[in-house]
Amino acid sequence: MKSKKDILSISDIKDEIHEILDLAIKFKNDEIICKPLEGKSLAMIFQKSSTRTRVSFEVGMYELGGNSLFLSSSDLQLFRGEPISDTAKVLSRYVDGIMIRTFEHQDAIELSNEADVPVINGLTNLEHPCQALADMQTIIERKGDLNVKIAYIGDGNNVCNSLILSSACLGMNISIATPKDYEPNKDIVNEAKNISKETGSNIQITNLVEDAIYEADVMYTDVWVSMGDEEEKEKRRNDFLNYQVNSELMSLAGEDAIFMHCLPAIRGEEVTSEVIDGSQSVVIDQAENRLHAQKAVLYYLMK
Ligand code: CP
Ligand code: NVA
Repeated sequence: MKSKKDILSISDIKDEIHEILDLAIKFKNDEIICKPLEGKSLAMIFQKSSTRTRVSFEVGMYELGGNSLFLSSSDLQLFRGEPISDTAKVLSRYVDGIMIRTFEHQDAIELSNEADVPVINGLTNLEHPCQALADMQTIIERKGDLNVKIAYIGDGNNVCNSLILSSACLGMNISIATPKDYEPNKDIVNEAKNISKETGSNIQITNLVEDAIYEADVMYTDVWVSMGDEEEKEKRRNDFLNYQVNSELMSLAGEDAIFMHCLPAIRGEEVTSEVIDGSQSVVIDQAENRLHAQKAVLYYLMK
């Protein structure tokens, strides 16, 4: 048995999520200013584009005293057919941690099974745990605590799946409104409902936007066309037409509700400019918190 910890899913840190969020807050407040990862390196495998994840991991490693390597699909033999297992074993001899952003979640699992060093999911088609941690940090900052209801409107995608699991682990209420056939992953919802028996979280999945928004403190959405879904672009734009977060929907939630989006956003599709650039929007704080939450993750796994 390997004695290392990975974060491929929020459920991997079910019992440690509070500790990691506390660390993230400490990093943001400059309460941890040592260089705990001096001499350590992080390999970052990117099979998809990224602005926030790449930059926040790179800067995070630098600020913790370590080094990072950006390995894109055009750099690695992995994407010319070298097995994941060989890549995992070889990288484990050079570096102290591996972050991967890829399509198939199973590929991230295989990498973690074969690697001797911690593996971090920097987004797969199934989950985006690092985003959810930054989102929770943002909610604590803006709402004072996690005693809130999130309404997620749109595609039941990777971001949505990790939000559901985080809400379950932290005892928050979450209501997801998606068009039919775009519901979140069933296994994740079942897992979250099991966790919620202990934490008291209320998880609702619906196709009705108004039901989800009822008494919401947080309005969250993400793109209708995720990376890898481009072939379905036209169909998706049509299917999601009634799921745009606009001023009318925000007014149903009330003026104290905050608007969240993981970014990148497409103004005029899942959200209007008026909302994302308006006074209730906290999207830039969310993006900033990727740095602090990621430092917490790196410190927790690699120190
Ligand atoms: N939110 C997020 O993961 O952004 P990037 O795709 O820019 O990394
Ligand atoms: N759901 C989006 C998130 C991007 C950060 C995607 O997977 O493309």
